Amino acid sequence: MDDLEKEAYADIESAENPEELKKLRIKYVGRKSDLTRNLRGLKDLTLEEKRTLAPKLQKIKRSIEELLDSKEREFSSIKEAAKADLTRPGIRHRTGHLHPLTIMERKVVDIFSSMNFSVVDGPEVETEHYNFDALNIPANHPAREMWDTFWLKPSATSEIIAKNLQISEGAKERPGERLLLRTHTSPMQVRYLETHTPPLQIIVPGRVFRYEATDASHEANFYQVEGLMVGKDVSLANFKYVIGEFLKKMFGSETEFRFRPSYFPFTEPSLEVDIRLVGGKSKSNANLKAIAESRKSDWLEVMGAGMVNQKVFEAAHYNPGEWRGFAFGVGLERLAMLKYKIPDIRLFYGDDLRFIDQF
Ligand code: PHE
Repeated sequence: MDDLEKEAYADIESAENPEELKKLRIKYVGRKSDLTRNLRGLKDLTLEEKRTLAPKLQKIKRSIEELLDSKEREFSSIKEAAKADLTRPGIRHRTGHLHPLTIMERKVVDIFSSMNFSVVDGPEVETEHYNFDALNIPANHPAREMWDTFWLKPSATSEIIAKNLQISEGAKERPGERLLLRTHTSPMQVRYLETHTPPLQIIVPGRVFRYEATDASHEANFYQVEGLMVGKDVSLANFKYVIGEFLKKMFGSETEFRFRPSYFPFTEPSLEVDIRLVGGKSKSNANLKAIAESRKSDWLEVMGAGMVNQKVFEAAHYNPGEWRGFAFGVGLERLAMLKYKIPDIRLFYGDDLRFIDQF
């Protein structure tokens, strides 16, 4: 039987087609095969003999059958492959792409980097001090109403202070201070001034939060890019040049812009920047024109800005009057909405592939 097993293995291994295999199956484990006959003959033996021989024979039979089966699978998979239609069109793989806000952030970063601005990052959980007080917005000041705020629970506050040294540095000096989700990126003005020496020029892209009802132009969570340039004699004229370059690179060379007086506690004077596109031929200009028309106004507001209030320098422990700077804050969604003619801010966060896939 051992010889038979070896012989069967060799035959099966060298079988060349399914027909040959079928014959081998009959020969080695078929009804009239030696193996089957011997198994049948077991009943004539003594109990003792049965006990030793039966398992042996069954094992041989099983392993021959297994080999036959696996050889059979081999043949059938070769057959399947031969059937494959190589002219059939392939299955298209979906490749990922960037979210429109990421595209926008990268464009902004590229433009300001080309003007030598550094890109810095700040904490999304802020202290009341950096988000408000250091920016000349004291508690109970009506200006706080400009920023509807998500406050953190005091219990959460102490836990976060303990865990996150980065945001707690200031808080430790001011025990009992409340934490919040930053309502703008402006707190980074003070943080950066505290830890760096001018002259400096930075932008701070980041996520901000407002406790507001959501509608076509408001989200409780959105993105801003803060800008800050500080030096001995930085002026509003420098701001006009820098922001003009930015707007032209972003919206096309024919973009017009204007400054409109405004109010922010941390800038003096404060202004808002509006843009207008006249008779532009480029695609983005056509988009802007359509939005302007729908709003029945030529001018579209794009950002808040101004000369850094000396009180902000004081909050960062600078000598009063020693430095001058400009700052601005621009909403990324707003820029993207203008550039790509997007009518509703909620589309950015809606996960609707019909929208997302257009970018
Ligand atoms: N932080 C202001 C806002 O969110 C925008 C701003 C930034 C205004 C910098 C002036 C200077 O509304």
